[in-house]
Amino acid sequence: MITSSAPGKIYLFGEHAVVYGENAICCAIELRTHVQAEFNDHIEINSVLGRSGLNFEKHPYVSAAIERMKEFAPVDGVKININSELPVGSGLGSSAALTVSTIQALNHLFHCGLSLEQIADLGYNVEWDVQGNASPTDTYVSTMGGVFMLPSRRKLELNDCGIVIGDTKKNSSTKKLVTNVAELKNRFPEIVTSILSTIGKITYCGEYSVCNGDYESIGKLMNINQGLLDSIGVGSLELSQLIYSARSKGAYGAKLTGAGGGGCMIALADASKTVDVSDAIKSAGGVPITTNITDKGVVVETKR
Ligand code: MEV
Repeated sequence: MITSSAPGKIYLFGEHAVVYGENAICCAIELRTHVQAEFNDHIEINSVLGRSGLNFEKHPYVSAAIERMKEFAPVDGVKININSELPVGSGLGSSAALTVSTIQALNHLFHCGLSLEQIADLGYNVEWDVQGNASPTDTYVSTMGGVFMLPSRRKLELNDCGIVIGDTKKNSSTKKLVTNVAELKNRFPEIVTSILSTIGKITYCGEYSVCNGDYESIGKLMNINQGLLDSIGVGSLELSQLIYSARSKGAYGAKLTGAGGGGCMIALADASKTVDVSDAIKSAGGVPITTNITDKGVVVETKR
């Protein structure tokens, strides 16, 4: 039996702008999806959603990953158990973490010898198979772990900063939000293009602050980034309530992460402030999760 795990991710800066080729900084976080894989006489997939065979409605990502892995091994008898610390559909890369972790577990169970680059590419293909569109960022960051400047994929170092996530528990559609931004851009091209380009510049300044471990500047830049995300219509009342409550308790900065419209916000806070920030997010109606940035990408945890 093989147990693997892969991390979720947050955007420190640059979501939406990255769709138009601007810079973004994306970080793997310590919340992980664990996948157990063992030989079986048929395909069985178990998760909080229940038990199924190869089933593209109940377990689309695992089913698509199994199908893709058939290119490398005869994956027709396997039992998969999924256990995730990531809230689903909240912009934290839960589907990428599940996909990448499943591929790695099958890779080791069937001795396919896939490299990390191959796993990231295959994960991207699986997300395409399921969603019909996907950004390669989530699967890449989940596979490699760490902090990346996009689209260049330059690796950055950022240690010891507390991240408090606030989940609004409101699902949103990435496709719809990306389309809304595109429509706004068509309607007001000069204004929206300059907002997206300014977000790219914020990321560029953010990279400098990340490299210097200057959390105060990172936080201020996150707040400016949030203002601009609001201006292009991807904020929400619930996100703003969590963001302002986190800031009021001394977070360096707070913003939405991912597509917005619901989903999650993130607050960057000194270790001494994470409890207060977390309590404030809870009082404002969110579900707080305190985590950290991690360098640990997809790994095999146990082999038996
Ligand atoms: C969604 O997690 C991030 C967006 O920038 C879309 C994308 O990059 O694919 C909104």
